[in-house]
Order: sequence, then C-alpha cells, then structure tokens
Amino acid sequence: MAALAQPGKPLVLETRNAALVLNVGARGRVYQSYFGEKLVSYSELDTGTKEAYVAAGTDNVFEPAIRVVHADGNPALDLQYVSHTLQTGKNVSMLRVVCRDSLYPVSVTMVLTAYAKENVFKSAVEIQHAENAPLVLASVASAMLRLNADSYWLTHLHGDWAEEMRLEETQLTSGLKLVDSKSGTRAAMFQAPLFLLALNQPAAEYSGEVIAGTLAWSGNFRFAFEVENDHCLRVGAGINPYASDYRLPPNQPFTAPEFIFTYSHEGTAVSSANLQQWARKYGIHRGEESRAVVLNNWETTKFNFTEAKLTSLMAQGGRLGADLFLLDDAWFGNKFPRNNAKAGLGDWQVNKAKLPGGLQLLVAESKKNKLQFGLWIEPEMVNPQSELYTRHPEWILRLPGRPDELRRNQLVLDLANPQVQDFAFGIIDSLLIKHPGIAYFKWDSNREITSPYSQYLGPNQSNLSIDYVRGLYGVMARVQQKYPRLPMMLCSSGGGRIDYGALKYFTEFWPSDNTDPVERIYLHYGYSFFYPSLALSSHVTSWGKQPLKFRTDVAMLGKLGYDIDLGELSAPDFAFSQAAVKTYKALSPTIWRGTQYRLVSPYATQGSRAAFQYAAADKSEAIVFSYTMHPRFRENFTNVKLQGLAADKQYVVREINLYPGTQSKFKFHGKAYSGEYLMKVGMPISSQEPLTSAIFQVKRQ
Ligand code: DGJ
Repeated sequence: MAALAQPGKPLVLETRNAALVLNVGARGRVYQSYFGEKLVSYSELDTGTKEAYVAAGTDNVFEPAIRVVHADGNPALDLQYVSHTLQTGKNVSMLRVVCRDSLYPVSVTMVLTAYAKENVFKSAVEIQHAENAPLVLASVASAMLRLNADSYWLTHLHGDWAEEMRLEETQLTSGLKLVDSKSGTRAAMFQAPLFLLALNQPAAEYSGEVIAGTLAWSGNFRFAFEVENDHCLRVGAGINPYASDYRLPPNQPFTAPEFIFTYSHEGTAVSSANLQQWARKYGIHRGEESRAVVLNNWETTKFNFTEAKLTSLMAQGGRLGADLFLLDDAWFGNKFPRNNAKAGLGDWQVNKAKLPGGLQLLVAESKKNKLQFGLWIEPEMVNPQSELYTRHPEWILRLPGRPDELRRNQLVLDLANPQVQDFAFGIIDSLLIKHPGIAYFKWDSNREITSPYSQYLGPNQSNLSIDYVRGLYGVMARVQQKYPRLPMMLCSSGGGRIDYGALKYFTEFWPSDNTDPVERIYLHYGYSFFYPSLALSSHVTSWGKQPLKFRTDVAMLGKLGYDIDLGELSAPDFAFSQAAVKTYKALSPTIWRGTQYRLVSPYATQGSRAAFQYAAADKSEAIVFSYTMHPRFRENFTNVKLQGLAADKQYVVREINLYPGTQSKFKFHGKAYSGEYLMKVGMPISSQEPLTSAIFQVKRQ
C-alpha cells in the first residue's frame, strides 16, 4: 500500500553491501541523501540539497533528468512527492516513489529495484499525464545519481567495427561530459552504453569506490556526467534526447528503459562480479543454463557455399564434438539470390540453387552428425535488390524526395510499423513452424539508421528512435513467448548491439567480427567488466594465423565455438581441438558460473601479457588463463597472484589443454600449494615466448 514519507525518515533501498537513500525535503521534493556502502543507520543523514530526479524549467541550472513541454507550450515541470511503496522480497526489493507536478496533471514515478545478493540496483521512470493533448518528452533520464568526491574518473568503452570495447579512462573536469550514440540500430558500435566511474582515484581492481553502470536500451543512449560548481557530480543515464522529442498521448504510460548499476568499495573486481552474477540470474535469457559449442561457417565460406561443403563441415563438427552447426548469411533469396551483400535481404526463402535439399536436408544432416542446427537472420533489413523492396516500399525508413542512403547495400525496415513487426516475427515463426528442427538463431543487424524517416509515423517523426526500439523488443518478446527455450545469438556487425535491453531475449552475443586472438584478449577484458563469459561467443578462427593452441586458449576464455575449416586442420591440430572441446566442456561450469578475475591487464602491460582466472564459488577449483602476446625482448615477468581460493587449503596446479606431444614447461606443474601461497606469493605463469598461452587447473585436494 502506498505510504507517505515522514519528516526525518529516509526511504532506504539496500543490497547486501550498498544503499541508496532518498528523503523528502524542502518544497516537497525528493532528495538523494546517500548512495554508497551500506550503513548501520541512516537516521543521521540529513536530506541534503541534491534532488534525486531534477526536472527542468523552474530553479534548475544544470543538466536535468527530465525536460517536458506541456500541451499548452509551458516548459516547466515542478515534481513534488506524492507517495511511495516499498516491497521487500527475499532478494529483490522495489521502491516506487510517485511525484506529481504542482500545477499540471503529470506524474513521474521513480522505480528503483535492489538485488540484495548481487549488490545491483536498477532505476527506471514511468511518466503519465492527463493533459488535453500530447505532452512532449524532450529529455527523460532513467536515472540520476548525485555523487560527492574529491575526483571522478570515468572509464568509457568505445570503438568501431572490429575494434569494439576499447577502454579509456579520463578524469572528469568541471562541466559536462557526454557519452552517447545517435545511430539508432547498431547503437553500441561507436560508444557502448557502459561505464565505470571511480571516485577519488582511478579505477583499480581491488581497491577504491567504483560504480559500474549500463543502460538496458538498444537504441540511442546518453550518459551525461556533470561536475557542478560545488564539485559534486550528477550523472544522468537514459535514452538520448537527440532528435527525439517524444509526443506522449494523454493517459498512456511511458516507461523509460532500465539503468542497471552497482557500487563497490573494493574496486572493479567486485563491481564486475556483481554485474556478472546479476546478469546470469536476471539479465540474460537462460543465463544459468548451459550453452552449446557452436560450429559456424561464416569465416570459412562467407557467401560462397554448397550443400556439399556445408555437410562436410557438419561431419567434421560432429567429429570435433561440437553441439550445434550454425549456418550464417547467404542461405536465402531466389529471384535475387544472396550471393553477396548486394541482394536478397528481406526474401527469407531458401535459395533453391544453393541448397536444393532445403533446410530439411541440413537439419537432418546435422542430426546425423549429432549436432543441432542454427540459422542466421537479419530481420530488420532489406536490400533494394529484393522482392520485399518492391512489394513493400512503405515499410522502409527513407526520407521522402531524397535518394536512399545505402550502407552495406541495405536499408532499415520501419519497426515502428506494426505490420513490419509482424513480418519480422513471421520470419522466425514460419521458419520454426516449417522446420521445428531449427534450434538456434543468430540475429544480425548490419547498419545504423541514417536519414531517419518513418512512413508510418507521419507527423510524429521525433518518436521514431524510441518507437523503433520498442517495436524491436516487441518482436523479440513475441519470439520468446512462443519459443521460450530457443537460444539466440545477438549480433550487429560484431558488437554493435550488446545491451541488457536486448539480452533478456538472447542467450549470448557476438562481441566482434575481429577474432584475432590478441585482439580478443582486449575485447574479453573490456566486456568482462559488464558481462559473464557464457554470454561472449568466442570462436576459434583463422584470423591472425597464430598457433592453434593460442587461438583455442583465447576462445576458451569465453563461450567456446569454432568458425574454421576443420577439414583443413592437420591431424595433430584436429586431435588437439577434439581434446580442447572435451576439456572445455569439463571446465565450463567454473568458466560460466565462477567468479572472474582479471589478474593481469593487457592494457597495463602494454600488450605484452595478460591473465584471467575463474574461481568456483565453493573455492574448490580455479581455472587460470595466461597469455603472452608481444613481450619485449627477454621481458622479465613477475609472479601472478591468484584470487578467490581458500588460504588454508592445499591446491594442485596442473597445466591442461596441452598440445599433443608436448609437456608442461612449468616447474610447478602437478605440485601442491596452499591457497595462501598462490594468492600471496603467486606463480610464474607467463612464458617469454610471443603468442603463447597456458591454461592451469587449480584443484583443491
Ligand atoms: C556480420 C556479423 O558480425 C558476421 O558474423 C556475419 O554474420 C556477417 N554479418 C554476415 O553477413
């Protein structure tokens, strides 16, 4: 039941180690009195002067959380507390704080959720109004955080195609720093909706206060970090207001996407463990279940394959011990066959010339080789050379009177249009109705939205970027509702769409088209601050041509798969790969569900070495991955200290995943050490040889 806040009685939302505290104060406004390490008591906190969700138009002079224009053109919102509810569950608690404008029938509800065990918070906002015409939402943050520290250190993650997730840390100075995306689809390709914010010192693995945040939204996002005149920091996180004045009709609730964040006073090792644990349980589809070892054909064949080539790959995949064969792009289109990126997108019928036996033959062949069968689709797009393009020109996002702006020879379909949503859902649905043997989809999206214009939305063009993403989620939700166990890979030219808004419908994502193992070490490092390994599809490919052992050891850090012509492997390489798949399957409970540690950063060593570890929750086992990439001449490496073991227990350290005919060169191989020794003294796990790697199993006796 809704309650009224009492003067001096804070609204407290706690997790196991952290707390977010609100208070109702002057002018009936809601203040954020505290966000940080959990306290014994909150009664000494005063309200403070930092509003929890600042509205524009009255007394605010910095970046607001919300800005609206009323139906009569008035641009002011003055939010006052009305009531709140606090539901406390076993692990999940939810605080809803209802505010209303003092003059206009507009209500804004802050919806804050806390996950106790995982130390994760979520913030969303619901807006509703009863004006006599649409209310314009000019800017709506999903959350605002108010912080007070001597210095603020922002790490954001950015990149481009094949160079995603580059970490960059900068100290925030007075004024406003924006991290945003305006590309509509593929919205995370240049800037990802992820950040780390360290207080008082740069982000460190095992010390210091740090907040890790991410917006669950696949479209344009914006993070605004503003150091104000009093040196306090306000952080706004939400949909990008750019070109997005949203016209909200009366009595239709608007819910802003969730901002997911965690607080740690023990550095980023804890913040990422929090988010990874949360994601497995709440953020990713079937996040606690096991994953298939996928054999993909994309890098081997690109657009050029025959039925015979695919079936021979399947036979090899079966021998390898893979679980699923994934047929990538180019299986469709007849009038406009998909033989390259120029034609066929939109025409989701099997290409009869290429695949005369149809998908049924491929499903049956997979089965014969003890593999499941998966299929690539790109439901949001159309090539001008397609039947769909001529049949439904009105479904395409394109500016009237201007030439089409092609990227990768394709255009974006208008997912704000319910007919297009039905079409996109129908692609998967009809494939599954016809071929119930399809057990997996890879959903790709290979361009951004430029020249945005929806023929469906008419005068409401500024609703497009939001309505597109809502349409997209509607389709994904329908798929999940009808096929709740269907695993799917999220892909957008690599890592262009990796947010938790979409990931609740997907079991994994494709982090990058760049599968060079050296690059993958950096990619894995960046993603690991926000995502658990079982979501990061990591395939052994030929990119980079490094030794197969090195490529495999890198892929085993994430969700192992293959995208290589297995038929071309030498007999020892094939035998090694077969054994690696077996080893991976045995280790995967710890890799997928263990606590991940970034023992040595590739950034800190300037690319000479890196090391990662997974520790089982009961401390019975750890898996350590050591990589030497490009060391200096005879570079001396220090010991690497392990984490997450029981200090008073003995562990045997064994190098595993050795190449056939080789033996471990590490003197400690097969010996027992105490957890204390492994964590305090550490082990010399790095070789001096370029492009080499080692995996160690550390097992409690
Ligand atoms: C981009 C993806 O990232 C690749 O893995 C592959 O699926 C191609 N699209 C296919 O066109």
